[in-house]
Amino acid sequence: MRGMFVVLEGPDGSGKTTQITLLKEYLESMGKECLITREPGGTRIGEAIRRIILDPEYTEMSDVTEMLLYAAARAQLVHDKIGPAIEEGKIVISDRFVDSSLVYQGIARGLGIDTVDRINAPGIGRYRPDLVFFIDIPEEEGIARKMQQKKLDRLEQQSIDFHHMVSMGYRQVLTDRPDVIRIDGCRPIGEIQEEIRKHFTF
Ligand code: ADP
Ligand code: TYD
Repeated sequence: MRGMFVVLEGPDGSGKTTQITLLKEYLESMGKECLITREPGGTRIGEAIRRIILDPEYTEMSDVTEMLLYAAARAQLVHDKIGPAIEEGKIVISDRFVDSSLVYQGIARGLGIDTVDRINAPGIGRYRPDLVFFIDIPEEEGIARKMQQKKLDRLEQQSIDFHHMVSMGYRQVLTDRPDVIRIDGCRPIGEIQEEIRKHFTF
């Protein structure tokens, strides 16, 4: 039996990682087998690409290079982990997927949604998400949370205008799509988790 593919999307610091950890605990307590993956990364090759993409030293990286590196890391993740786990009937929960590229590279970098979608299509194949939770928070709030948590990576160090484009981009890409559930991310962690869990009925 085919498994399920769930993705959490939202700006940096919106609480995706926090919610995924809680969701995994819940699903496993219900006897479900889960696989958690993160983007970019999640495979040996993907983690190597992640180090290049996020390293603040690489200030010269072109927007097109950035788009291709994200797509390459994703292709390897689908090939090594996501595809096989779905075929084995597991619930795959991914911290970001192709919608992040549509928003960050397609809109915030200005490469265009169609271009980014076409570049990613061969790597994704038929493994499109069944459910996308969009955790919506103001960009300033997300970056403030990240600054408290760790040193900012190359993407997080972009200007506030860039992060503003990301927020607008998310609303553009994820509005009016039947697979997307928008969640207000400014509420307490437990309340958000409760809302997410309501969408899993076994
Ligand atoms: P993301 O994976 O989306 O970047 P994280 O889950 O790493 O976000 O959360 C970023 C920071 O914000 C962490 O320090 C986390 O504890 C905190 N955080 C997460 N969710 C909330 C929330 N609902 N309210 C306040 N702080 C939160
Ligand atoms: P990460 O630390 O995983 O993000 P988070 O802050 O959500 O924990 O870093 C990933 C960064 O890469 C984040 O700033 C968003 C960006 N990104 C893209 O620009 N395009 C993509 O396709 C993906 C998956 C991420």
